[in-house]
Amino acid sequence: MSFDFSNSEKAKYISAKHALGSIKNGMRVGLGTGSTASWFIVFLAELVRKDGLQILATSTSTQTKSLAESLGIKVVSLKEINGIDLTVDGADEFDDQLNLIKGGGGALLQEKIVAAASSKMIVIADEAKRVNTLGKFPLPIEIVPFGVETIERNLSQLLTSLGYEKPKGVLRKKFNEVFLTDEGHYILDYKLSRMNKVEDLALNINNLPGVVEHGIFIGLCDEVFVGKSNGVVDVYSNKTKASVSYKIDLDEMSFIKSMIEGK
Ligand code: A5P
Repeated sequence: MSFDFSNSEKAKYISAKHALGSIKNGMRVGLGTGSTASWFIVFLAELVRKDGLQILATSTSTQTKSLAESLGIKVVSLKEINGIDLTVDGADEFDDQLNLIKGGGGALLQEKIVAAASSKMIVIADEAKRVNTLGKFPLPIEIVPFGVETIERNLSQLLTSLGYEKPKGVLRKKFNEVFLTDEGHYILDYKLSRMNKVEDLALNINNLPGVVEHGIFIGLCDEVFVGKSNGVVDVYSNKTKASVSYKIDLDEMSFIKSMIEGK
């Protein structure tokens, strides 16, 4: 099967490939959700299948669990894994402090629980995810379905009081139906454009009745691997930046893509 790969796909592929270097035999690994994480999961499955790599994995969504299991990775619950050495996940945005916005794929709750339970979290991403100030990507806020209109109104009032202009939560839909998370919750997406005082914002949102979790990840991410379509990966950690370079192997990309798509 031949694919026509976009620059963004090449970037995701190469960032995922670089993350493989952080995996050691015997590790307990958290598997992220989304298109970039899917590249990583296939790479990882190949190491398990071909090289006999032994890992124990836990997942951040039903979607990730079924992809990983279909490829032969053993996925267990958080209780069974009893600690996570490393989680590799994607992100919708990251800033210089390695704060993130996540939840574009709707898995933010499990993603945050898994990230918080991990000794280390690596984010893999393409360059479009790098921002000076978080907020261009609409902030996902997971809420209970009960009283959704009231929760939206209270959230909007809170955001107005924090200085955001005319905030409006958009109830997420998929195929014209209200989107339900793995836990049966709703998601409100808030376009805030520029977030300021992210810690305060995060605490205030979490304090509101009906809010389950939000997509701001503060102090959870240790490193970000940013892939580029020319094969370069920029590694951001602790205010340092280093770069490594790989060859973009289109045959390898095609193989992985076909595994992601189940073909
Ligand atoms: C899933 O809920 C998200 O947090 C994803 O990790 C994020 O949306 C990045 O997804 P992509 O890798 O598909 O851009």
